[in-house]
Amino acid sequence: MRQKLAAGNWKMNGTGPALVELQELAAAHRATRSEILICPPTPLIHRAAETVSGSPIAIGGQDCHVETSGAHTGDISAGMLLDAGASYVILGHSERREDHGESSETVRAKARTAIAAGLKVIICVGESLAQREAMNTLDIIAGQLSGSVPDVVTGENLVIAYEPIWAIGTGLVPSTEQIGEVHDFIRARLDRRFGEGVGGSVRLLYGGSVKPGNAAEIFAVSNVDGALVGGASLKATDFSPIIAALDTA
Ligand code: PGA
Repeated sequence: MRQKLAAGNWKMNGTGPALVELQELAAAHRATRSEILICPPTPLIHRAAETVSGSPIAIGGQDCHVETSGAHTGDISAGMLLDAGASYVILGHSERREDHGESSETVRAKARTAIAAGLKVIICVGESLAQREAMNTLDIIAGQLSGSVPDVVTGENLVIAYEPIWAIGTGLVPSTEQIGEVHDFIRARLDRRFGEGVGGSVRLLYGGSVKPGNAAEIFAVSNVDGALVGGASLKATDFSPIIAALDTA
């Protein structure tokens, strides 16, 4: 049985006062069946980890450098994330792929470094609207998966997030059939590459405009083991009902 995962990606949002949202989440979900993860901006990771200490909430980073240390001004290593209290890192988010020109090859190298440091990785894949309209979605996903996922993964240290770029922050959501098609496809690809023992243990998250109002419907789709949530993870009042929907899915 794969434990469900409700993951929040705060992106470049939140300073000290936002930690109160974590206190609220921790108080509301003491008895959660799902795993809860919040990935705040890097300067908040240490305080966030202290805030949720003793609760079922885990803390993650949003990116890390491919090297373990060195002359890389402004960058953050996987070991630093771990030291600050993170247990996960999101890698290859489409905003990183677009804003920072990250290739799947880079994402794969970062994932190798992060796993070696002891972090679990959430590797993001997803097609653009043009790629979907050209009926290339599954080819794009296949390429991103084989390119971005390193060989060293296990069912415990890898999570895949399917995030159609056109659904991120837009309020647009694929149909449940479209989500199911991609999630079943990802599961089959992982099974084929890593065997069903590993492939069947990797959690697959859907991401892109998940809200309290559509969460239950999305969580009922086959091979959806949770969500990677952006905007609706910033406020406990929005994220809480999403966690509750996952707990009962
Ligand atoms: P969104 O973002 O929930 O705001 O659409 C999702 C993501 O980018 O992870």
